[in-house]
Amino acid sequence: MRLTIALLFACSAATSALAFADEPRRVFPPYSRPTLIAHRGDSGRAPEHTIAAYKLALEANADFVEPDLQVTKDGVLVCLHDTTLERTTDVETVFPGRSRTIQGRKVWPVADFTLEEIRRLDAGSWRGPEFRGLRVPTLQEMIDVVKGHAGIIPETKAPESYEALGLDMAGLLMDCLRKNGLDGPGADPKTPVVVQSFSLDSIKSLRRKHHCRLPILALLQKPAQARSDALAELKGLADGIAPNKELVTGDPELVRNAHALGLSVTVWTFRAGRTGSFATVRDEMAHFLYELKVDAVFTDNPDQFPGR
Ligand code: G3P
Ligand code: CA
Repeated sequence: MRLTIALLFACSAATSALAFADEPRRVFPPYSRPTLIAHRGDSGRAPEHTIAAYKLALEANADFVEPDLQVTKDGVLVCLHDTTLERTTDVETVFPGRSRTIQGRKVWPVADFTLEEIRRLDAGSWRGPEFRGLRVPTLQEMIDVVKGHAGIIPETKAPESYEALGLDMAGLLMDCLRKNGLDGPGADPKTPVVVQSFSLDSIKSLRRKHHCRLPILALLQKPAQARSDALAELKGLADGIAPNKELVTGDPELVRNAHALGLSVTVWTFRAGRTGSFATVRDEMAHFLYELKVDAVFTDNPDQFPGR
């Protein structure tokens, strides 16, 4: 009996996957095809969020390059994943007396340092001596490298913690994009811009306070955020969802539900060495893009993107 049920379940799952694979692909601008996003640059081959990683991403023909954003003490947007500097720089050596202890851990918050101070840090040596001397780039420096060659998909990181310090990350982002002529959809056809955030408040601020007309993705990481009623609430505020891989594999209807609401689906994060049951990261990305029909993938390994 158990075997019969298992077989029936397997057959029905296979049939449903096949039916899904046969459905025509919808296009969600500014994506025009299965889309490659270089996660923190080409962070598989160079230290994340360095100009070297962004240049490698362009060499790998990334459609978009991702900068995560933090704000310095003097209000400048820099590209860094963490809110603190110690994981990816030598701040501990350069500024040994400037840490704070938070939850029993010594940390060096970005917001405690001016841009001039952050420029003194080495953001490459943690990955290997060959990367010594790489710096933490500003968003402007990132744009200078990528504009005209690929899209840019900035993430407002921990915006609430900056808000508490009187720093308006969404406003700084829109100012910077405006200065570069990138603040409207289609403003620079060679450099489409999509904004992403885990923070619904940040998305609301972008839309309502800063009148952002660019496509915005809501980053999702909890099953409750991926329920169809939650997706329906996002409609009108966001143009797409960006769930992690587990949310997509855990709910066979998620992609279809999002698409039915007109929301694109961008999935994170595809990494060589963390591919679950797939032999390679290329195979894993191909499964998500061409069988599950997601629209775009964030990957540390843009050079492994499956051919289109
Ligand atoms: O923004 C997509 C993905 O990067 C979210 O995770 O922590 O790497 O920023 P994280
Ligand atoms: Ca990110």
